[in-house]
Order: sequence, then C-alpha cells, then structure tokens
Amino acid sequence: MCGIISYVGDKDINSVLMAGLWRLEYRGYDSSGVASVMDGELEVRKVEGRLMNLQEILSDKPLGGKVGIGHTRWATHGEPSDQNAHPQVDCNENIAIVHNGIIENYYTLKEELIKKKHIFKSNTDTEVIAHLIEENYDGDLKESVLKSASRLEGSFAIAVIAASEPDEIVAYRYGSPLIVGLGKNENIVASDIPAVLDHTRRIVILSDGEMVVLRKDKVEFYNNKGERIEKEEREIKWSPTSLDKGKYPHYMLKEIYEQPEVIERNIALRMEDEGLNFGESFHFSPHELAHLSHIVIQACGTSWHAGYIGKYLFESLARIHTEVDISSEFRYRNPVMDGEPLIMAISQSGETADTLAGLREAKAKFLNVLSLVNVRGSTIDRESDSTIYLNAGPEIGVASTKAYTSQIFQLYLFDLYLSKLKWTMDAPEIEKRVKEVNEIPEKMRKILGSADNIRKIAEKYKDSKDFMFIGRGINYPSALEGALKLKEISYIHATGYPAGEMKHGPIALIDENTPVVAIAPHSSVYEKMLNNIEELKSRGARIIIIASLGDKRVKELSNDVFYIPPSEESLSPILIALPLQLFAYYIAVLNGRDVDRPRNLAKSVTVE
Ligand code: G6P
Repeated sequence: MCGIISYVGDKDINSVLMAGLWRLEYRGYDSSGVASVMDGELEVRKVEGRLMNLQEILSDKPLGGKVGIGHTRWATHGEPSDQNAHPQVDCNENIAIVHNGIIENYYTLKEELIKKKHIFKSNTDTEVIAHLIEENYDGDLKESVLKSASRLEGSFAIAVIAASEPDEIVAYRYGSPLIVGLGKNENIVASDIPAVLDHTRRIVILSDGEMVVLRKDKVEFYNNKGERIEKEEREIKWSPTSLDKGKYPHYMLKEIYEQPEVIERNIALRMEDEGLNFGESFHFSPHELAHLSHIVIQACGTSWHAGYIGKYLFESLARIHTEVDISSEFRYRNPVMDGEPLIMAISQSGETADTLAGLREAKAKFLNVLSLVNVRGSTIDRESDSTIYLNAGPEIGVASTKAYTSQIFQLYLFDLYLSKLKWTMDAPEIEKRVKEVNEIPEKMRKILGSADNIRKIAEKYKDSKDFMFIGRGINYPSALEGALKLKEISYIHATGYPAGEMKHGPIALIDENTPVVAIAPHSSVYEKMLNNIEELKSRGARIIIIASLGDKRVKELSNDVFYIPPSEESLSPILIALPLQLFAYYIAVLNGRDVDRPRNLAKSVTVE
C-alpha cells in the first residue's frame, strides 16, 4: 500500500505528479502529498483526506521545478493527518522523502536521532528515514541514501529529493515494489507500471536492495554496495486502463458486470481443441503434475476464499490432498512440507506482502511455486516458477469481484487438467464438464439480468446491524466471501459460517433481527442445508436463500429467495459469487458508502 510517483523532466510537475497519483490511488487514500525543488528551495504540499483535496491545494498554490515526488498514503504509523502525510522532510528542509512499507526498527533509530538533536514533527516511521539521510548527508544524496538504507529494517520503497541537488531523484527498493520508466529527456519512478505509461513504455523493475539515480537525461542503477549494475529493460505493450467507469456509477458495479466477459476471454485462451492451455508462464510438465500428491495454497482476503474453494476442488475431483492457509499464518508457522508439495500463491495484485513472503518461504525450502495472478510482471508473478494469469483486466474497486471468479475458474480448469493426468476422471466426464464451463458466461448474464431483484431484497435488509452467511461443502468458502464483501464495503458486521457448525455456538446470536443469507443450490449437501435453515428459522431468523432456479421447497423456508441457474456443484461458487457481490454492493450504496474506496482498506497490501 501507499503509492509513490516521482518525476524528473520538463513537463509541468503538478500535472505529472497528480496524474500518477490518480493512477495509484487504489494503494491508499487517507492522505497525499507532493514536493519539488523550486528556485533552490524545497516546496511541499500535503493534506489529509482524498486526492481531490491535494488537487485543490495545487490549483491554488502550484509547484514548479524539474524534480518532484508524490505519495498517496495508507496509514501504518501515525493517524491520517496533514502532518503525517508524505513527503516527510529533514530538520533543514533540504531533503524530502516518500515511502511505501514499514520501518521495523524506527523506534530505536528515532531515539538515536533525537539524541543527535533531530526534531521530529510527525508520528510516522518514514520521518526517521528523512532524518537519517540528513545525518548521513555530506553533499552526495546517493551516498547518504545508500548508507541510510543499510540501517533500515522492514520493508521500504523510497524516493528522495534534495534542494541542494535539484536535478536528481534517488530511489531505493527493499521489500516494496518500485519500477522505473525510461523516457526521452524525462524519467520516472513509481510503485507500479500504469503510473508511468502516459510517459513511456520502456520500464525497468527494481529488485530488493537496488537503487536508482535519475536525472532528466541519465538513469544509473546500483546494488546495495553502491556498485553500478546493468538492468534489463522491458517494453510494455498493453495500455493503461481508462479510468472511466463507463455507464456505471462505481468501478465495483462495472467490474461485477464484466465477469461473463472475463470468463469468456479465459475460455477462449485456456480451452483449445487439443486440450487445456495455461499460457506462456506455465512451465510444469504433465509428468511432474501426474505425480503430484500434495498441494498447499496460501493467499489473503478474497484470494484466500478462492483458494479454499480450490481445496474442495482438488480433493474432490483430482483427489489430491490440499491444504489452504492464510499467508500471514503460513509464513510464520514453519509448516511441515514433506513429500514436495506444490505451493500455490493466489493474488489479484501479485504484490500482497504476506503472500509474497509465503512464496519466499516455500522457495527457501526449494519447493515449486505456481501462482494465480492478475497483474503481469508483479513481484509474485516474477518470483514464481509458473504463473497462471487471471486475465480479468485491471480491477480498480477495492473489493475484489471479477478477479475472484476468474481465480475460481482457473482453479477449476487446473483441477480438470490434474484429474485427467491422474486418471481420476474419464474422458466423457471431462467432456461433460467442459460443456458446462462453456455455459457459465450465459448463466452469469442471467443472474446479472435480475440484479434488480437483489436490489429490492437489499432494500429490505439495509438497516440490519448483523448478518450471518452460511453454506456447506464447496459453498462454505462462498459464505465466507459473502460476509467479507458485505463488511468491507458496507461496514456492517457480517460473519460467514459452515452451516453445520451453527449449533456449536453462533446459533446463540440468532433472533428476529438477524438476517441469514443461506447458500443452498441443488448439491450433494442440499438436504443438510435445508435442515440447518429450518433450525435457524425456528429461532426467528430472517432467511434469504440463494437457490437453484425451479426449487419450490425453499420458498416456505425463507423470507426472500434469489434464484440462480442450476449448475454442476463444483462450478456453483462462480455463479453464487454474483448475487453475493450485488447484495453487498446495494446494501453499501443504500447506506451511502464509498464502495470503491472503503474506509481503512487498500487494494494492494504491500505491508505485512
Ligand atoms: C486487500 C484487498 C482485498 C484482497 C486482499 C488480497 O485486502 O482489499 O480485496 O482480497 O487484499 O489481495 P490480493 O491482491 O493478494 O488478491
């Protein structure tokens, strides 16, 4: 989280920095700021709140100069405020810095610097870096950044300017992403690729422990010993997404409606006449996979829910023992990894700090990592042995929607592939399932076509304070995802539970004020679900059921029903996701929430 942009060149510094910040806003949006060197002096503008506030300040008091740094923040140390916004500056107001990451030893460093008479004005860990660079500065910004970086623990991507060296930017990466855009008489450093594409398509990705010094007409790369290094340049062929929401009031709604198209695109890419094709970054041989006996999936948030569905898929169809873990747990629990399991990392952004750390843990144990990633060229993509791309197109709404259904889709196809290699499914069965897959986009369109029914149901429940989501089997993770979607964008408390577990505690919460969303399409656990629903109904719960079209039994059990087209059980989570997303969306909108940028959240979580 936190977005960094910095620019050296002749274009108007205000528009370049602001345009970059708008592209990076998904990384954090509680405060923002910019700085440049104007007539030999450092000028800083920063403000709490959304980027629009900064834009207004810059319209009144624009910056000038040829070098500038900008930042959009997701607070870690220090509450969102003008003072804690970046850039942070040193005592002499010579050095300004923007930072993404967390400095874990900031407290010790701060004490040390206070003893040396440095005066701190914010509660951030970042300010420590500004003073440390000042302490080490003797007229060479590059040297002082290098020296300071060697004292920092934690993760940090930084960009630094100094009034005393008005033609250059120094940036350093350790643990948080940074990329360099190489232009003609202009150069840029940013947290991710779309932020530089308005200026250049030539990019270099910094690795951990690397530093770059940018001038208008020169870019030099260094390792952490200060030795010059050569870096590979890549050309980006894709275009940045338009920031246009089209006819939709929110990105989230637009992205919900894009889902049939995303699945269609993936059907075309993955399902060839000769068999399944997982793309150019998939490097496993059929022989290797045929002998696979154990999979470990690790991911965060919505991606973890997709991974959980993956566990049900791999165990039921390919019959492969599968564990699924939240990355922040996986990375510290020193898991037993006997039998060389395949490690799967699932991440929309490809930058989630915990998932990346989990991947590195696995690599340190010499295990193969297969990732499911939406953002090509992201750190998780680059560090994995193989990647299956989600091909969902950029997802801007903070709450993941189209990436989630694509994750489930890729897991399903990978499962079919493994089932074939392991002979757990015969050819006619695979053919039947492939046919079902082809019907998914149309079924999704049918669900989206009746979104108005979901809006009407949402209106009835919009004032409820607590929601329960229940499911069983492969739709237990769907219940977790339904609850997460609702709480993250509406700020209403919601809990997802396996329906069979309700009587072991949560049923005590049920009364006539508790709406329960029960996921009960026709499936192997359908009858069990109905029993669980009965138990809740008899305790007064208001029941909303997601059921298969044509199911009459659910009517008498429920206050409201939302029907979805019937499907094969293992594909049902893809369809179930849509009414859950729409339900959360409408409740959030009806409560006046900022659904695309919910409070306290960020799209890309690059700190642990
Ligand atoms: C954040 C987002 C979630 C997302 C999670 C994992 O918390 O707000 O929507 O599911 O990160 O992100 P990833 O990019 O790894 O899928």
